[in-house]
Amino acid sequence: MTTENSQQNISQHQVVALVSGKGGVGKSTLCVGLGLGDALCGKRVLLIEFDAGLRGLDLMLGISDKVVYDLGDLLEGRCTISKAISESPLNENLNAIVAPVNLEDEIRLEDISLLVEGLRPHFDRIILDMPAGLGQSVRITAETADLALIVTTPDRICVRDGGQMAQALQKRGFFNHRLVINRVNEKFIRRDVITDLDAVIDGVGSQLIGVLPDDPDIQLKLTRGIALRENHRIVRICKVISRRIDGEYLPLIFS
Ligand SMILES: Nc1ncnc2c1ncn2[C@@H]1O[C@H](COP(=O)(O)OP(=O)(O)OP(=O)(O)O)[C@@H](O)[C@H]1O
Ligand SMILES: [Mg+2]
Repeated sequence: MTTENSQQNISQHQVVALVSGKGGVGKSTLCVGLGLGDALCGKRVLLIEFDAGLRGLDLMLGISDKVVYDLGDLLEGRCTISKAISESPLNENLNAIVAPVNLEDEIRLEDISLLVEGLRPHFDRIILDMPAGLGQSVRITAETADLALIVTTPDRICVRDGGQMAQALQKRGFFNHRLVINRVNEKFIRRDVITDLDAVIDGVGSQLIGVLPDDPDIQLKLTRGIALRENHRIVRICKVISRRIDGEYLPLIFS
C-alpha cells in the first residue's frame, strides 16, 4: 500500500496507546496482536516500544538479531528515523521502533510529540506500547495518542490500577479511552460469566472494546518470535478489536 493510498483510509484513531496501571498485564502481547491484525488487513503499521531498559518487542516480532538502533538512539540523534525502524518477518506491513536498552535522559514529551506527528503521514496505524504506571505513559498518551486502550486482567488489583489509569488520563483532559480485558479464563467465557466482566468494566470505568482469553500458546509463540498464523484465535480477536477501534459495529468475539 502506498503512502498516498494509506492517507485516504486514515482512521480517526490512527495513534493508539496501550497503557496499564499494573505491569505484566499483556500490553506488549496486545501490541503485537493488534499490529499483526492491522498488517494482515493491508495497513502499514508501526509499533513504538517505550519501556526503557525492558525491551521485549524485538523477541516477539522476531527482530532481535537485526535491530541495530532503538528509540533512544533516535531521540538522542545517533540515527535517522529509517534506521530506527525494523521490519518484522511476521508481516511485511509490520514495523517497529524498539525500546532503548539505555536512555541517558528521560524521554522529552516534545521530542515524542514531534516524532509521532512526523510519522503520521507514513503509517496507517501507530501503536504505542507504554510502560506500566501512571507517570510518563499518561503524559505521552495525553499528548500524542488519538485513543488509549487500558489493558487489565480480571485480577482485582489490576482492575483497581486500571481505574487509576482511567482517572489519571481524564485528569489530563484525555477521555478517549477503552478497556481491553486480557487473560480471561476460558471456563469463565464458556460459562458466559458476563457479570464478572461487568465488574471489571465498572472497576476501570472505561467502555469495553475487547476481551482476550488466557492462551498458553500465544505466550509460547511470542516469546520465541514464532509467526502467528492469520487464523490463530488471538489474531482473529485482535482483528475484530482493530475494526472496533476504527468505529465498526462488530460484536465482541472470544475465540
Ligand atoms: N492472553 C494471554 N495468554 C497467556 N499469556 C499471556 C497473555 N497475554 C500476555 N501473556 C503473557 O504474560 C506475560 C506478560 O505479557 P506482556 O509482556 O505482554 O505484558 P506487558 O503489559 O507488556 O508487561 P510490562 O508491563 O512489563 O511491559 C508474558 O509472558 C506474556 O506472554
Ligand atoms: Mg510490555
